[in-house]
Amino acid sequence: MRSFENPENRWAGLGPYYAMFPFSFAKEVVKKYSNKEEWVLDPFAGRGSSVFASSVLGRKGVGIEINPVGWLYGKTKLCPASENLVFKSLGKVLKQSRGAQAYRDEFFKLCYSQSVFDFLITARKILKWKTRKADATLMSLILVYLHGKEWDSFSNQMRQGKALSPDYSIRWWKSKGKTPPHIDVMKFLAQRIKWRYSKGIIKDKNSQMLLGDSTKLLKRVARFSGPKVGLLFTSPPYYEVTNYHYDQWLRLWMLGGFKRPRSLDNHWARKFSSKEDYKVLLQTVFENSAKLLKKNANIYVRTDARPFTFQTTKEILKDIFPKKKMKILKRPFSGPTQTALFGDKSPKPGEMDIILSN
Ligand SMILES: C[S@@+](CC[C@H](N)C(=O)[O-])C[C@H]1O[C@@H](n2cnc3c(N)ncnc32)[C@H](O)[C@@H]1O
Repeated sequence: MRSFENPENRWAGLGPYYAMFPFSFAKEVVKKYSNKEEWVLDPFAGRGSSVFASSVLGRKGVGIEINPVGWLYGKTKLCPASENLVFKSLGKVLKQSRGAQAYRDEFFKLCYSQSVFDFLITARKILKWKTRKADATLMSLILVYLHGKEWDSFSNQMRQGKALSPDYSIRWWKSKGKTPPHIDVMKFLAQRIKWRYSKGIIKDKNSQMLLGDSTKLLKRVARFSGPKVGLLFTSPPYYEVTNYHYDQWLRLWMLGGFKRPRSLDNHWARKFSSKEDYKVLLQTVFENSAKLLKKNANIYVRTDARPFTFQTTKEILKDIFPKKKMKILKRPFSGPTQTALFGDKSPKPGEMDIILSN
């Protein structure tokens, strides 16, 4: 059981994200396969666990993530705004939201009480989460509690990791006679902000999370890391398993997106269901990452045990790093998986770790 008695463990848990690395695993890999001061690169960073582990262990982490939800969690935990400024930002939203009476369609009527919805709509409108640190920190905390268990979140009962479809949710809430909880937003968030800050924060100005597509952005990383990355540590999306954007539709709505789930136009912001496209993604990202690595760099890739994903990843890595020795570790799931915790209880084949070194 993880102790929450230090700031790193309190911030590492920010926030719920499908297929996230357990923090203890991320630290173990960074410690074993990289040296202090070295750069650690994660081109599929999710909520930034590898980058954050690098930061707390005295390395410089750089992560790229295409999904704004994961990116915001990752960026915030590396360098949150001061508690004081987050409360100021919260005060500003609460003041503007009072009595707004924003229109709720059937889904939002059943999901949130009127006053919670007014708060969310105002936060969505005024928080500049891409550019202002206090707003970004507050927005990340709002995202953590946007949906989940009744009374532990702002919403009517829903999964925490994955937002279900509006039609399904409406049917389910109606059949159970469930109405949205009347949460006192100030009290609810104040308690949780205080808990998050009570052991302090990590302030890392070197590590970075970049928002965007790593098939394009790796060139930008080269500008500041140069060919000095000591560890490439990542977990790419798995072939045909999930659509990170679709599953996070409600949090993406909160960040200014559509009010219904939908697949986005960006090629990589989808479920990975074309074998050819999947190969191109891995090939491009690993090839571009290779250009940033030191000669003796280590590569640690966690992937799905299902044959297509595993074989493709293994072959591409072998091809790009022919001189490195490859080791495979089978990681069958023993206890409940991260995804099961988020409501996906279908049987899972486990994961594979592919490790390359000189
Ligand atoms: C298996 S998850 C990584 C989870 C991460 N290890 C963590 O601890 O949260 C794969 C991630 O790759 C992201 N992704 C997929 N295509 C991408 C691309 N072209 N550029 C950047 N990120 C991408 C997905 O949005 C997803 O968050």
